[in-house]
Amino acid sequence: MRTELWGKYEVNLAQKGYGGTSAVYFGIDSLNQKKVAIKKMANIALGLKEAWIMNIYGKNEWLVEFFDFFIHDNHACIVMEQLSGSVLDSLSEKEAVKVTINLLKGLQFLHSKGILHADISPRNIILTNKNTLSLKIIDFESAKLKDLEGVYKGEVKNWIFAPPSSKEIDDSYDFYSAAAVCTYVLTGEVKTQNITHAKLKVILEKAMNKDPKQRYRKAADFIQDLETYDV
Ligand SMILES: Nc1ncnc2c1ncn2[C@@H]1O[C@H](COP(=O)(O)OP(=O)(O)O)[C@@H](O)[C@H]1O
Ligand SMILES: [Mg+2]
Repeated sequence: MRTELWGKYEVNLAQKGYGGTSAVYFGIDSLNQKKVAIKKMANIALGLKEAWIMNIYGKNEWLVEFFDFFIHDNHACIVMEQLSGSVLDSLSEKEAVKVTINLLKGLQFLHSKGILHADISPRNIILTNKNTLSLKIIDFESAKLKDLEGVYKGEVKNWIFAPPSSKEIDDSYDFYSAAAVCTYVLTGEVKTQNITHAKLKVILEKAMNKDPKQRYRKAADFIQDLETYDV
């Protein structure tokens, strides 16, 4: 195993994760032997912004925990909790619904801190326990913080897990993506046409309405409908 010392962190150079703009490595904090994951990013400003957002939300059951930030080799390095498990893949209907409920609990907490994730997708969710369907939301690179008027501003991604563009961005942006993730892990595509359970289909279509005002406005309402869809 090839390791290198980056500041106080012993880093295993066998890369553990890849993203569009980053490389993720596992390592050990040499002061206390704690296992960590380190996300190394060429864009220092973007890395600093991500670390800042993670530091604001703090500790939560459904969100990866932030530990530290440093610059190494002219790159931003975000030190966080090391997660075991894998990103989301296909699931049964019951599993997909449970995972979506857990995802929404994480989003509910995040939104309560004034943060929109803005990049919820199967690759940004790590299933940490396949039996209990526990998960952690990762990757806060695209996240937005509410301004003083309580509005999210800035560019958002335009791709299959994101809603069609609209003038205003609100919490329902993440609910749309959560429903798209649920649809995807169930059917392998983001269109709801192959969802067989009629009530579940209606719920997911509501969350994925083109008009933000017609979507779920609160995570609690979306969670409640998912908890009772099959009774
Ligand atoms: N804390 C972590 N523990 C374990 N693996 C992680 C962790 N953070 C990220 N990864 C892995 O690295 C990949 C890329 O991380 P991510 O933050 O999504 O980067 P990007 O912003 O480039 O997409 C993830 O899909 C995941 O497989
Ligand atoms: Mg990612």
